[in-house]
Amino acid sequence: MEKHNAVLINQEICTGCGQCVLVCPTKSLSLVGGKARMTSLESISCGHCEAVCPVNAVRVPLLDDDMGNCETFLFEKRWLRPGHFDLSRLVQLMASRRSCRNYTAQPVERAALEDLVKIGVTAPSGTNSQLWTFTILPTRKAVESLIPVIVGFYSHLNTMAKKAVVRRGLKLIGKGELDEYYRLYYRQIRDGLAEWEKTGKDRLFHGATAAIIVGSKPGASCPAEDALLATQNILLAAHAMGLGTCLVGFAVAAMKNDPKVQLAAGIPGGETVYAVIAVGHPEESYLKVARRKKVELRYFEGE
Ligand SMILES: Cc1cc2nc3c(=O)[nH]c(=O)nc-3n(C[C@H](O)[C@H](O)[C@H](O)COP(=O)(O)O)c2cc1C
Repeated sequence: MEKHNAVLINQEICTGCGQCVLVCPTKSLSLVGGKARMTSLESISCGHCEAVCPVNAVRVPLLDDDMGNCETFLFEKRWLRPGHFDLSRLVQLMASRRSCRNYTAQPVERAALEDLVKIGVTAPSGTNSQLWTFTILPTRKAVESLIPVIVGFYSHLNTMAKKAVVRRGLKLIGKGELDEYYRLYYRQIRDGLAEWEKTGKDRLFHGATAAIIVGSKPGASCPAEDALLATQNILLAAHAMGLGTCLVGFAVAAMKNDPKVQLAAGIPGGETVYAVIAVGHPEESYLKVARRKKVELRYFEGE
């Protein structure tokens, strides 16, 4: 592994066209004696220089070639110029992705899960930190092993939330979260827990046969945004692959509030989880695309 964000420029091949200098966001490259040179160590290894070079003279060693090798489909690496994609199909895909809450027992191929992660990380990240983490739960067994830990978290939370005196006491000292939880989620969770106990019905992962947990290591400038942008890529790509997905916000909340839950999924304590994605083969289909509430548009035209 390179120690810093080096950019290697083959001086023999470089024609000094200056394209890499033009696109570099950190102004780390300059033309010296008619050739591109790395003149500052501020590079963020975004790879724009490598992608723009017409003669393949630039290489960013920190970037991993394997991340561009997908096993379950052909990843066409030719760069698409803006406007050179079928927008109608793109939006159709976006509006066809729905949260799936019914899955078959069919396992998800491991290669497909790995490809989803590779697609996920095509997302942008703040200062290109790429400190996101992906934990794959590849089987129903792995997903199921996490359920009792999350159930334990919510059983305890509901026991506390049920006590009006505790809710009021916490609210009095400025901690109104438990009171809000009681109003918004207590009953839903109580019923879900009772159903889980009685019938084993999984209202958390909805029977999904795999899951991907997206988090971040410490140190990222925008960890939540990075993780969630990668997550949206995964959701869309999964739909294109024929898989269903559902975000499991309740699992994220449990991991954020109880380190034991996160550790139970093999995620080190120093990381923060932003999305838990249930993945599986869908056992539901729709006739129409998603509709949304009306958005109130706001314009700001300047002073
Ligand atoms: C941050 C977030 C957390 C979510 N958590 C859950 C969840 O715990 N359980 C669930 O069934 N759906 C969950 N969802 C799915 C939403 O309910 C769903 O996106 C919304 O109803 C719109 O439906 P659609 O995704 O099918 O378009 C979550 C969605 C988001 C964005």
